[in-house]
Amino acid sequence: MDWGIRNRLSRIFQPQDGRTLMLAVDHGYFLGPTTRLEDPRKTITPLLPYADAIMLTRGILQTCVDPTATVPVVLRVSGGATIVGRDLANETITTSVRDAVRLNASAVALSIFVGSDYEHQTLANLARLIDEATPYGIPVLAVTAVGKELEKRDARYLALACRVAAELGAHFVKTYYCEDFEKVVGGCPVPIVIAGGPKLESDMDVLRLAYDALQGGAAGLDMGRNIWQHDHPVAMIRAIRAIVHEGATPRQAYELLRDLTQASASVGRV
Ligand code: R5P
Repeated sequence: MDWGIRNRLSRIFQPQDGRTLMLAVDHGYFLGPTTRLEDPRKTITPLLPYADAIMLTRGILQTCVDPTATVPVVLRVSGGATIVGRDLANETITTSVRDAVRLNASAVALSIFVGSDYEHQTLANLARLIDEATPYGIPVLAVTAVGKELEKRDARYLALACRVAAELGAHFVKTYYCEDFEKVVGGCPVPIVIAGGPKLESDMDVLRLAYDALQGGAAGLDMGRNIWQHDHPVAMIRAIRAIVHEGATPRQAYELLRDLTQASASVGRV
């Protein structure tokens, strides 16, 4: 693999264990000022020390992240549809590779909507982005998006979508955890990171999801709402980080979360 691609990937996937904990805060590109991300700077700043990379759009990067921040940037470069529009899958490339270079992105990310009316269009977007980004040594993250059709998230569908992304040349793929997740990983020759999805019912559900995904072969997480919609987001990202990089079990991570939450009660919210 090209030196530049490998170098940028090693900023995101920590060389000591090959894993990553990415913080996803790109949701506003189709959801607007969604709950707890109304003021992105306020949400993002305390979490940055615990994230291996941050996934966001150029607008939020430029306005809400200090340019002196050292966190690697995974720049969302697809969009053009919103939750109130006709079809979330109708995406185009919204940010050029030239602009990704200007912003010192460590990777660019784009959604594909396999099986939707816009399957061909979004796969063509991915192929074009890979053609344009690769010569600059910028890795491409393909996001296997399902829009509002959350029920699509089963192993058969996700294995197909991940494999197609890898066949087109994506350097890593973001998908969902599911039953028989090993089939998704087994059919995909590039690293897979897992989205968290909408906020889960309990903290233990989130920690189990993280643990099970890694046990099932995921190379990391790219999580958003289950971190920053938590009442104690810093405690939650630290608990998840313990699973990703320190070999913690869900129980151990839960105890850490509880301890951090209790400790914060006397000194203010974490
Ligand atoms: C959705 O398309 C966005 O790309 C998010 O980055 C992704 O869904 C991960 O965030 P969450 O863990 O909130 O699902």
